[in-house]
Amino acid sequence: MNRAAFDYFADLLRRESGMQMTPEKYYLLETRLHPIVQQQGVVGIDGLASLLRRDEGNNAVRQAVVEAMATNETSFFRDATPFDRLRDTVLPAMTQTRAAAQSLCIWCAACASGQEAYSIALLLREYGAPFTEWKVEITGTDISHGMIEKAQRGVYSQFEVQRGMPARLLVKYFTQEEEIWRLRDEVRAMTQFRQANLLQPPPLPAGSVDIVFCRNVLMYLDASSRVRVLQGLHGVMHAGSVLFLGAAETAGGLGEMFRPVAGMAGLYVRGDSILGLPVSPA
Ligand SMILES: C[S@@+](CC[C@H](N)C(=O)[O-])C[C@H]1O[C@@H](n2cnc3c(N)ncnc32)[C@H](O)[C@@H]1O
Repeated sequence: MNRAAFDYFADLLRRESGMQMTPEKYYLLETRLHPIVQQQGVVGIDGLASLLRRDEGNNAVRQAVVEAMATNETSFFRDATPFDRLRDTVLPAMTQTRAAAQSLCIWCAACASGQEAYSIALLLREYGAPFTEWKVEITGTDISHGMIEKAQRGVYSQFEVQRGMPARLLVKYFTQEEEIWRLRDEVRAMTQFRQANLLQPPPLPAGSVDIVFCRNVLMYLDASSRVRVLQGLHGVMHAGSVLFLGAAETAGGLGEMFRPVAGMAGLYVRGDSILGLPVSPA
């Protein structure tokens, strides 16, 4: 791949998804785009760049490039701590603040193949009252159509359920069909999945979301895209909402928009929060 082709794909990925391609990802780019090169019948990555340059309107190939370069790593109850905080800190506070509305709207932004959204659904079912009586909606979105289709199926391999799913919950909420495990309908009914790009206007109404999970995606984006995404998340939240980011991510540097919850890395409230959780200075 020549330098011009690398620069072309780096620019395309930044514009389309915010993903940052640093020179050390040179070989990753070559490896991951190889199947598209073959499919399109062009000569190498340079040929793919030429094809897209000639035909900028080729949305399908551009989307395939974005999906190929996205890191979709995920697992059930990934990193454990955010889910403990959801159960032990956030949900108890929301039993009070959401009592009048009796509803909970959760957005799992950048949900990859759905394990995070389903983990939240299972946690809520295990939590029990009052949420079992409330209207609970968990929306999972991701830039990748392929990931969203997999999330919608709600079917996971033995390897995937072994990564993080407690055996007790596995037998309670999944049915085994030969090599695969299928989530039961009552869990799938709590969730919906759709394709959405975090650089575009959010897929949920302003001020409508109580809990946002946006973990392990900002780390792949360039600085200005990170700000743009956080502004979008802020817009769908309200003064009683919380935001979970990944352990290596921060919502700092945006003035009064978000406040970190004291002693709970990765958990944020809005600057105008009414939740009553102790916050650290922005
Ligand atoms: C590493 S996964 C994180 C999955 C899950 N949140 C977790 O922490 O386990 C990152 C996901 O972000 C998605 N992604 C990357 N850029 C995006 C964008 N601009 N808008 C929406 N999703 C994006 C990728 O497709 C990928 O599935």
